[in-house]
Amino acid sequence: MGENVRGRLVVALDVGDLAAAEEVARRISPWFGVAKVGHELYADAGPAAFDRMHSLGLAVFCDLKLHDIPNTVERAARAHARHGVEIMNAHAAGGESMLRAFVAGAHEGARDAGFTPPITLAVTVLTSESDTSAFATRLEMARTSGCDGVVCSGAEIKYAHDAGLKTLVPGIRFAGTDAQDQVRVFTPADAARAGADWLVIGRAVTGADDPEEAASRAAAEVAEGLTGN
Ligand code: C5P
Repeated sequence: MGENVRGRLVVALDVGDLAAAEEVARRISPWFGVAKVGHELYADAGPAAFDRMHSLGLAVFCDLKLHDIPNTVERAARAHARHGVEIMNAHAAGGESMLRAFVAGAHEGARDAGFTPPITLAVTVLTSESDTSAFATRLEMARTSGCDGVVCSGAEIKYAHDAGLKTLVPGIRFAGTDAQDQVRVFTPADAARAGADWLVIGRAVTGADDPEEAASRAAAEVAEGLTGN
């Protein structure tokens, strides 16, 4: 699988057990190059989860969606970035000064520890929400605060790219399958065709009877979608 596909595919390890997360990540690592560590796994394992994913050869998306007063967010971002995570995020709903603090903290933490600065993303509107009226304002805040990109649905990729921002897209489902709690869903092929820089896929792969088959199908769809670009 080409690195252009593998580097875009992010597996959401939404389990509260590092051994289980590691097992899934290892099995699908031929197709997925990035591991998402979110609250559930972080609560169980802490920063050891980042280290374990790095040791499997995966980049890490630290999906802790920071959202607090600027000083607290800056300090938290700095602390997470010291672990060398490759991608981090914060809620744009926290406002522009909070996002600036997030970017500053992420850069400082990486620099202190000798790492390349992480990609900083602002969460615009959750893909489980149908009301996207806040999207345009949050996108503009992401841009003016110096974030590298946004977390958005497949339908919003073009607006982010027009603003010069990268896109990380959750809410990915195979055609004809259950959307579960997600509302604004895209197939892997359609998200890739729309230009998603990263696709976050959780249950469609981790909950499949055959995760390797689902992972390879997602990668094939992304490869197909990219050739249409
Ligand atoms: O299982 P599923 O593919 O729905 O998982 C999507 C993942 O993307 C979850 O881990 C969720 O936390 C994350 N995410 C999201 N919507 C956002 C940001 C992150 O669904 N706006």
